[in-house]
Amino acid sequence: MYDGVILCAAMEYTEVVQNFILDHKIGLSVAVSVGVVLWGIRRYVKGPRYYGKRRIDGKTVIITGGNTGIGKETAIDLAKRGAKVIIACRDMTRGNNAVDDIKRLSGSTNVSVVQLDLASLKSVRKFAEEIHKTEKRLDILINNAVMCEKAPSKPV
Ligand SMILES: NC(=O)c1ccc[n+]([C@@H]2O[C@H](COP(=O)([O-])OP(=O)(O)OC[C@H]3O[C@@H](n4cnc5c(N)ncnc54)[C@H](OP(=O)(O)O)[C@@H]3O)[C@@H](O)[C@H]2O)c1
Repeated sequence: MYDGVILCAAMEYTEVVQNFILDHKIGLSVAVSVGVVLWGIRRYVKGPRYYGKRRIDGKTVIITGGNTGIGKETAIDLAKRGAKVIIACRDMTRGNNAVDDIKRLSGSTNVSVVQLDLASLKSVRKFAEEIHKTEKRLDILINNAVMCEKAPSKPV
């Protein structure tokens, strides 16, 4: 008896759903089409994503503005893969805090910060001289820092 009641309720529900779809077929078609187009645009704009697990032990990487945002996430990932990571930051307090975070989150101790303010050519030259003095090689340079007129981001 219970089975019959459940079957009736299920059939009624199916009918309600079918009627709803038939009554709103144009609206639903438009909604699905718009959704598919938006999803396609998002995928296209986002670009490809790298899922590989390749190791880069022994490689030296410099990331400008690696104390926050995409630069910091990149630093964590490359440090996990075995790279020696140097983040180039204009504020050494934020830079040192980021180094602590990157070390903790990547499990690597091969992470450091060197002062660099890209808005000052003097600072850029000083940075280049220091890297020349301390590093034997540079394998990857990631020009990540955003040079725009804005207040420094909040401490990390
Ligand atoms: N976020 C997005 O959706 C997106 C999309 C496409 C491309 N991008 C690009 O990805 C890069 C990173 O974006 P994001 O969102 O991670 O930016 P973010 O969080 O604002 O980080 C920018 C970094 O650049 C540093 N920086 C700014 N001016 C500097 C200067 N004069 N000298 C040295 N460092 C300086 C900042 O240091 P302070 O902490 O001292 O301010 C910060 O570390 C940018 O090139 C951006 O154009 C971002």
